[in-house]
Amino acid sequence: MIVSRYVVRRSGPLQGGVTISGAKNSALKLMAATVLTEGRHRLRNVPEIVDVDLMGGVLEAIGLNIERGHDDTGVAYLDVTRGPEVTPVAPYELVEKMRASTAVMGPLLAAVGEARVAMPGGDDFGTRPIDMHLQGLEALGVHFELSHGIINAHTDALVGAEVVLDYPSVGATENLMMAAALADGRTVVSNAAREPEIADLAAFLNRMGGQVIGAGSPTIEIEGVQQLRAVEHTVVPDRLEVATYLAAVGVAGGEVTMHNTRVDHLELLVEKMGAMGLRISPQDEGMWVMRTDRLRPVNVATLPYPGLATDFLPLLVALLSYADGTSYATENVFAGRFGYVGELTRMGAKIRIEDHHLVIDGQPRLSAAPVRALDIRAGAAMVVAALGADGETVIADGEHIDRGYEDLAGKMQGIGADVTRYED
Ligand code: UD1
Repeated sequence: MIVSRYVVRRSGPLQGGVTISGAKNSALKLMAATVLTEGRHRLRNVPEIVDVDLMGGVLEAIGLNIERGHDDTGVAYLDVTRGPEVTPVAPYELVEKMRASTAVMGPLLAAVGEARVAMPGGDDFGTRPIDMHLQGLEALGVHFELSHGIINAHTDALVGAEVVLDYPSVGATENLMMAAALADGRTVVSNAAREPEIADLAAFLNRMGGQVIGAGSPTIEIEGVQQLRAVEHTVVPDRLEVATYLAAVGVAGGEVTMHNTRVDHLELLVEKMGAMGLRISPQDEGMWVMRTDRLRPVNVATLPYPGLATDFLPLLVALLSYADGTSYATENVFAGRFGYVGELTRMGAKIRIEDHHLVIDGQPRLSAAPVRALDIRAGAAMVVAALGADGETVIADGEHIDRGYEDLAGKMQGIGADVTRYED
């Protein structure tokens, strides 16, 4: 993996336009879903990021072929081709680098009745168990054995079942949808995750000939089919990338237009940012944002979709560090996800951690300091915070940002932000 760092200087007002890429969190699962059937799948709007390369590596280890290119109209695509042979193994070296590679478990079980996937460890979010993935698949007839850190899963036949998730887990919902797509009979997932990326996966499966009903609601019904076929699909726009540029304008001020966005996937965020004083309005296939006055404090709490995404929170906390007063932020999804607070504090932000709450006393200015990108969104939050800080902020471990953002520095420069990426 290439080690990088980001150097950011105080910027603004920002101006111009930025084109939003396809959603990382959707693209990775769509890529996993191609394991379900033989043939050549064509995905458009797949972001050029390290995590997509990692998922490509997982698929290649399984025996699939990955190819990027441009079609006659100049539109970029990623082709994934599966032949008759599949090696049902996701090796530790890859799973350890990216937890999302566990998404191949459901498709492998559906395709060949077998999966050997390394048990993912903890990460900067704290422990992230996959018990719900396993329990759900067990209900569909999968047997698991854990030995030497590897989950050995096999099934003689997947049979549809009723699964009630303890919590609307995104990853568990996706693994179940993909496994159930080829199971015998009907699967009903209750308390399912409702994220737009779930709806995108359902659309992909349905296009492949699957029968998935209700994605986007808490109950998803999947009627298993005998066979699926390879298809073409365009990945849903990345709402997390949109949030990043909204937050950038929030800190640096100015007026920016975002192209290729879905405002309907960002309703609560837009409402909260509106309450902070950002002016946001939908435009044709995009969104316009402007900030002139100092931000007002607001209270925010993360929840599964349609609540405020946990991935928005580091960006919102960076933003609220500049607000004119005290804000309260609550993290309800990942208990251990406050590592970035220490980094913001190094830049002069006044934030107190109280259990899973933050008390943020906004400051007119922060000051540049050497900081780290602890994970993808924490790294983006550092870039955003640094746009309003006096001096030059050097963000180490930029490779976390590279995992999830297509050309963050280039797109930021395109709207006048002084952000440069260096490879070390
Ligand atoms: C996905 C996203 C991530 C986002 C998260 C929540 C990808 C690649 N990642 O992660 O960016 O922050 O959704 O929107 O799509 N849990 C269990 N047992 C399980 C599964 C989850 O206890 O079997 C817990 C987790 O520890 C966490 C909560 O459920 O506290 C939500 O996790 P989940 O929705 O599964 O997140 P991911 O799919 O891992």
